[in-house]
Amino acid sequence: MKLSSANINVMIKACRKAAKILIRDFGEIEKLQVSIKGPGDFVTVSDKKVEKILIDELQKARPSYSILSEEIGLIKNDEECKWIIDPIDGTSNFLHGIPHFAISVGLEVKNEIVCGIIYDPIKDEMFVAEKGNGSYLNNQRIRVSSRKKLKDCIIFTGGPRQNAKFKDLSLKEYNNFSSIVLTPIRKMGSAALDLAYVAAGRCDGFWQRNLKYWDIAAGIILVKEAGGFITDFDGGSKYIENETILASNSMINEQMNELLKK
Ligand code: IPD
Ligand code: CA
Ligand code: CA
Repeated sequence: MKLSSANINVMIKACRKAAKILIRDFGEIEKLQVSIKGPGDFVTVSDKKVEKILIDELQKARPSYSILSEEIGLIKNDEECKWIIDPIDGTSNFLHGIPHFAISVGLEVKNEIVCGIIYDPIKDEMFVAEKGNGSYLNNQRIRVSSRKKLKDCIIFTGGPRQNAKFKDLSLKEYNNFSSIVLTPIRKMGSAALDLAYVAAGRCDGFWQRNLKYWDIAAGIILVKEAGGFITDFDGGSKYIENETILASNSMINEQMNELLKK
């Protein structure tokens, strides 16, 4: 089966075009690792190039939609429809030549995310979701995992971000998880892919503070449409405003919430 609404097709086309540049630049980065200057400036340029291709493609297809993108900020247009873009999520991985990063594009309509794409160009994995139509990985339907016991799960987390708005509690939270329930915790370095992996049942849960809308927009719909739960750390739905997100299968959501509150 395949998801192929008009908006999804526009998003896939834009991602594939931008990914060509991203793959080419990643090849260059691998060479720059060993140079004295390092790949820092090159990555910034790459980020902006990828963002420009995405914006040009999306604007060409949907000229009236607004855009919120990490590097460029808000391009205000139509009040109801907005693309939410993170051109490279997992920049540190990209910079270090680690092949784990993604392009993330979400579509918000009337303040709700209705479509999301997270594309890992190196593994050629395209995660796609649309409201009411499910989540897919390369055209195969995906579901969250069904593990019930935290001790059997793999949990992802991330951060902290520099200049974080909230006090960094990630170490305390990490200790709660790993010491109380002996759950393996991973920090993979791309919040977008963390959420996509929850949706695909590869990991069972994910939590993080201080994430921005572009980090999670596409991931939110992917997890929801794959049958997962997304909450803030109080079990509520203010994950965007509160910048705290907990995503998981439905079985471990409460247990994770309890541990985060401790
Ligand atoms: C970052 C990644 C990372 C997360 C950071 C984000 P960026 O996004 O998603 O996994 O821990 O909080 O800022 O900077 O690579 O787009
Ligand atoms: Ca990001
Ligand atoms: Ca980014």
